[in-house]
Amino acid sequence: MRALLLLPAVLLLAGCQPEPSAKPLTPEQSAALKPADARIAGLYEQACKSCHTVPDTGAPLAGDRTQWDTRWAKGEDALLNSTIRGLNGMPAGGQCFSCSPDDYKALIRFMAGRE
Ligand code: HEC
Repeated sequence: MRALLLLPAVLLLAGCQPEPSAKPLTPEQSAALKPADARIAGLYEQACKSCHTVPDTGAPLAGDRTQWDTRWAKGEDALLNSTIRGLNGMPAGGQCFSCSPDDYKALIRFMAGRE
C-alpha cells in the first residue's frame, strides 16, 4: 500500500532528471577525464582537479552529472559567481590565479558534463 502511494512521487522525481541515463562516476573515472581544449585542460589540472576528483573534499566530481545537474540548473551565471566568490569549501577563484571569466565558464561546462 505504502509503495503504491509513493509511486507517483517517484515518477515525478524521475521526470525531473534531464538525462535519466546519467550515472555516478568513480573518482578514478572522474580523474581520467580532461577538457578537450589543451589550455583549459592545463588550468583544470593546476586548479580545479585537485578537489573536483576527490570526494572527501566535498566538491562535486568532474563529469558526474548526477552530482552536477542540480547545480547546473542554477544557471551558468550563478555557477560563475560562486566560482569567483567561493562557496563553503570552494575557495574564491578555485585556486586559479590566471583564469578569466570565460575560462571559468569552460571549466564549469567541462566539470558539469556539458562540454
Ligand atoms: C580546494 C578545493 C577546491 C578547488 C581547488 C576547486 N573547487 Fe570548486 N568546489 C569545491 C567544493 C568543496 C565545492 C562544493 C561547495 C558547496 O556546495 O558547499 C565546489 C563547488 C564548485 C561549483 C558549484 C558551485 C555552486 O554554486 O553550486 C563550481 C561551479 C566550482 N566548484 C567550480 C570550480 C572551478 C572552475 C575550479 C577551478 C578553477 C574549482 N571549482 C576548484 C572545492 C574546490
